[in-house]
Amino acid sequence: MNLAEWSTPFKRFAEVFEAARRAVPKDPNAMTLATVDANGRPSLRTVLLKDFDEQGFVFYTNTRSAKGRALNDTQVAALNFYWPSLDQQVRIEGTVEAVTPAEADAYFASRARASQLGAWASHQSETLKSRAELEARLEEVTKKYEGGEVPRPPHWSGYRVKPERIEFWKAHEFRLHWREEYVKNGAAWEHHWLNP
Ligand SMILES: Cc1cc2nc3c(=O)[nH]c(=O)nc-3n(C[C@H](O)[C@H](O)[C@H](O)COP(=O)(O)O)c2cc1C
Repeated sequence: MNLAEWSTPFKRFAEVFEAARRAVPKDPNAMTLATVDANGRPSLRTVLLKDFDEQGFVFYTNTRSAKGRALNDTQVAALNFYWPSLDQQVRIEGTVEAVTPAEADAYFASRARASQLGAWASHQSETLKSRAELEARLEEVTKKYEGGEVPRPPHWSGYRVKPERIEFWKAHEFRLHWREEYVKNGAAWEHHWLNP
């Protein structure tokens, strides 16, 4: 296995991700997103990877949610993909920036209308008195936008995790797993093998 032939981790990620897309029937793009808030408290949740390239890894969410507030405060994040059927894990660590309004608009416009309305109805991460409160808000926005396009809520957008470190892990027998990290050094990526 000549893994060092990839000079940047992105092509490598694209290959692993393509394998995951073929092998994993549901949500191969699901990833654990770790954030740290202004008090240094970590928090994890699953989100879906919607885009990636050499600039970074993009997901969409409510910017006023718990994760949105943490990201706005500390601007760092980590991502973890684990695909059991591939026996592979990818870990990504980096800084975070908002996607451009044009990118967020384009992705929002591609979503199903019901999801667009849901983005208005859900005050993500806030306490909900009852399910009825959410359903009433959904009904309200459904009426409001009837017969027209649903605009993107100002508090709904995407974040791009700009990696500074990407680690590829692949299972091997006797727990002698393959571990490699790519660490950003200026414009270049350094490649290291790691003990499993
Ligand atoms: C498979 C899966 C995919 C999810 N994708 C997203 C997503 O792309 N964006 C999002 O905001 N929440 C997504 N969620 C919900 C989050 O895990 C989380 O409950 C929500 O974003 C609130 O998190 P927060 O309170 O930490 O901000 C997903 C959950 C699961 C289980």
